[in-house]
Amino acid sequence: NHTKPHILVIFGASGDLTKRKLIPALFDLYKQKLLPAQFAVLGVSRTELSDEEFRNRMTEFLPEEETHQSVVEEFLPKLYYQPLATDDGYEYPILRDRLATIAKQNVIAENYIFYLSTPPKLYDVIPANLASVELNKSDDGFRRLIVEKPFGTDLASAKKLNKKLLHYFDEDQIYRIDHYLGKESVQNMLVTRFANGIFEPIWNHNFIQHVEITSAESLGVEERGGYYDQSGAMRDMVQNHLMQLVGMVAMEPPVVIEADAIRNEVLKVFQSLRPIKEDDVASQVIRGQYTESHIKKELVKGYRQEKGVNPESRTETFFAMKFFIDNWRWSGVPFYIRTGKKLPTRVTEVVIHFKKTPHHLFGTSQASQQTSNQLIIRIQPDEGILLKFGMKVPGAGFRVQTVNMDFHYDDLADTHLPSAYERLLLDCMQGDATLYSRGDAVEKAWAYVQPILDAWQNNPDIPVYGYPAGTWGPEVTDKLIEGGSWRYPCKNLSDDGNYC
Ligand code: BG6
Repeated sequence: NHTKPHILVIFGASGDLTKRKLIPALFDLYKQKLLPAQFAVLGVSRTELSDEEFRNRMTEFLPEEETHQSVVEEFLPKLYYQPLATDDGYEYPILRDRLATIAKQNVIAENYIFYLSTPPKLYDVIPANLASVELNKSDDGFRRLIVEKPFGTDLASAKKLNKKLLHYFDEDQIYRIDHYLGKESVQNMLVTRFANGIFEPIWNHNFIQHVEITSAESLGVEERGGYYDQSGAMRDMVQNHLMQLVGMVAMEPPVVIEADAIRNEVLKVFQSLRPIKEDDVASQVIRGQYTESHIKKELVKGYRQEKGVNPESRTETFFAMKFFIDNWRWSGVPFYIRTGKKLPTRVTEVVIHFKKTPHHLFGTSQASQQTSNQLIIRIQPDEGILLKFGMKVPGAGFRVQTVNMDFHYDDLADTHLPSAYERLLLDCMQGDATLYSRGDAVEKAWAYVQPILDAWQNNPDIPVYGYPAGTWGPEVTDKLIEGGSWRYPCKNLSDDGNYC
């Protein structure tokens, strides 16, 4: 355990992320003895709460099982709370003094991590206020800043935000969290590719027909209509999570597994993306919005009827796109990505479609056509890897059937799959930024998607296709993949009887 004693300060401690993700992740780390003995959490937000009240609130989100009770009781005293008007610089001396007191009481060196889990409008205010009381830099201990997405809402705002952050913190103090990179199965992509002799030699345009990445959710926008309507699938999922997945699938082998080595390779992928012209947006990109429908005989609201959503909204809840990476490895290989809310199931997967054999020895019937090999990396749920290949159907003749070689993480006995936040928090505590996004890559990803945003903004004729909730998005999405089709891990829920 080379995690130094420190205090984790969570801004926005009364919010949803703190209770649903951060505190449970910290508890899991504590339970596994991965936190240093001298460690404390200071929750900060505007709500007036005492330490005791904050602890009580957080208890609800910790495991209730009998066996954990003694650990919960040991863990809770590590949580403290400080009410603070975070946008008011005059209050920061209170924060500075409170931190010094907690550090002194618990014999913790003045190492601080500041976690911004607040509305984005505070992202540039809080760092400036921290700097005003010299909490941003120190010769005696470390000072790190974790920033949650969104990192801007377009290229210009992303650049502005980076500039502001870099005014008060150095790049190596800033940890931009993309929780997709914390997922075990996303990291396993690097191991699958670079620890096995058999995959890497065929991981290129010579052998790969196309690559498909899907991140589907069955949930709608739930209570986040207000936020989502300003954001949409592109800003919420594509510019960050899906682009990071593209980076992992497409990057060159890094020289070492270290933050900058890996992040340089991801940046190179983003630099090689073939720019999308505004005029091509209508044909290369599809946006959709879920409409009212029946799922399992129940009436489900359309997006425009959701709370907090403009009844005339044109915000996309579905996004699909075809694109190319113009480099040696991926020359001519189409990539397809798709994501959406209120789709038939929750699944995130990468499908590598390999080229077919050059000569169809066993006929061109539908059955033998299906034998193109696919490697399916299941990110979630049911994390694992599936390889599809052709086998002879026993008996007369040579009929080919597709069979599966299937690995599930679940098959490994006693494996604890750490949550993304658990992994990422621990990495930051240890000063390892490998799985965090670097400023230049974030800007590059924005630069890439900006023409799409511009085209949507400037051209009201580009359609927002409706799709009934519980289906795989607008039907036109099928036409995007030339000579192929998307993988449908389960059928439309709104077609009666055709359930997952
Ligand atoms: C978040 C988005 O970043 O990722 C949400 O804001 C989305 O809208 C979520 O639901 C998906 O994350 P996961 O881990 O459930 O795939």
